[in-house]
Amino acid sequence: MEIFPATWRDLTELRHLEQVCFQKDAWPLLDVIAVLSFSGIVRLKAVIDGQMVGFIAGEIRNPPELAWIATIGVLPAFRRQGIGSALLSTCEEGLGVERVRLSVRQGNENAIRLYKSFGYQQIGTWPEYYRGGIDAVVLEKHFSDRL
Ligand SMILES: CC(C)(COP(=O)(O)OP(=O)(O)OC[C@H]1O[C@@H](n2cnc3c(N)ncnc32)[C@H](O)[C@@H]1OP(=O)(O)O)[C@@H](O)C(=O)NCCC(=O)NCCS
Repeated sequence: MEIFPATWRDLTELRHLEQVCFQKDAWPLLDVIAVLSFSGIVRLKAVIDGQMVGFIAGEIRNPPELAWIATIGVLPAFRRQGIGSALLSTCEEGLGVERVRLSVRQGNENAIRLYKSFGYQQIGTWPEYYRGGIDAVVLEKHFSDRL
């Protein structure tokens, strides 16, 4: 598995990955185009045998202080092999900010376990943020060496 910066050339594969990972919550086309083209975004793909098997995007909102992980997904057949962890740590490195935040559906225990193992801590909830009235859990990690 290798990790590379993603570009607009990855549009088709990223749309596929989004749909497989998030089904009805997958981003619309315009959001996928935006995440592959806007500035201030660290976008990385995990590749095995030429195929995109994972993707992460982190958006620097308020440099050098704060960034948000906008999305992370790994194709089901490639999960539990450390790819999500590798994407997250490489993205955190690339963002280089003091604090990284993210939101996750309450009940998405796999993702929450991953984030907590990385040192993310809950700082709040957004009630009924997701489709179906599911709350968002907001997590944050501090990088004290970057202060
Ligand atoms: C969340 C996701 C990105 C994790 O990717 P991954 O490549 O499987 O992650 P890793 O293999 O690096 O797992 C890291 C840790 O996360 C936790 N974890 C991930 N999947 C898990 C599962 N199915 N069951 C229990 N723990 C899990 C474990 O602590 C794991 O460490 P371990 O394997 O040493 O026990 C992946 O499950 C996914 O794409 N899910 C669907 C999309 C999604 O929900 N994204 C998050 C939106 S906020």
